Amino acid sequence: MATSTYILDPAWERERERLEKLTMLYQPETERFIDALGICPGWRCLEVGGGTGGTAAWLCSRVAPDGKVVATDLDTRFLDELDHECLEVLRHDIVNDEIPVGGYDLIHARLLLEHLPARREVVARLAAALKPGGWLVAEDFDFATWGTFDPPAPLHVRVKDAVMALMSAAGHDPETGTKLPGMMIAAGLEAVEAAGHNRVITTGTPGLDSLALMLEQFREMLLGMNLLSSEDIDEAIADIRGPANRWGGSPLMVTAWGRRPL
Ligand SMILES: C[S@@+](CC[C@H](N)C(=O)[O-])C[C@H]1O[C@@H](n2cnc3c(N)ncnc32)[C@H](O)[C@@H]1O
Repeated sequence: MATSTYILDPAWERERERLEKLTMLYQPETERFIDALGICPGWRCLEVGGGTGGTAAWLCSRVAPDGKVVATDLDTRFLDELDHECLEVLRHDIVNDEIPVGGYDLIHARLLLEHLPARREVVARLAAALKPGGWLVAEDFDFATWGTFDPPAPLHVRVKDAVMALMSAAGHDPETGTKLPGMMIAAGLEAVEAAGHNRVITTGTPGLDSLALMLEQFREMLLGMNLLSSEDIDEAIADIRGPANRWGGSPLMVTAWGRRPL
């Protein structure tokens, strides 16, 4: 069985920077929603697909001194750099490996399920790993809000379509965010709710530079599938990194939460 369908490469030299520039747009909302669920010292948490570890580190700060955070990823190169007494880092494939036993108060996964064709099965297994009364918080994009630009930019619309076609070919679902509540209900969770939030950002800012970095990383794949030309990619990157004169909506981040019945 394939280990993962995830096509972004943690070994790419600027992957940490790309991820940090992307997630800085959304981290405050992640923290706000999890705080609202009542996270406190002593909670046991599972952070799945933890990436560069911003959320894992924040969870540790909330559950210390006697709580625990198990942070997993297919590739733990960034998580391994974290140092916290509450933290355990685990190299782990959420699709194919057993979920670490824990009776979790909270399981969180951001920008992970949308990449996994087996996302429904994964949500069901995560729900079963909660302790009764524990919360699953899943956050994924709905790409509906990406694609409108002021002033208009036909090239950026083509770039969006090309990136989505490339990722879809690898099993990505661009509507995962909106589908999260239904997956949670199907998994037997209760008190399911969801909220969406996005940012309207301008060229020449770090948040949008995450897209330029993604294009750099995807360049050969986009060319190989004839989705964009090299000139298209260069022009789009130059515009993104140019003056702050074009605004556009980021993808909509949907945060969904649900509780395992007591
Ligand atoms: C887009 S990044 C998001 C990182 C982090 N959740 C965040 O929001 O900052 C997706 C992460 O999921 C990890 N990942 C992909 N497939 C996975 C799998 N099957 N099991 C565990 N982690 C996986 C990737 O290695 C990557 O670190």
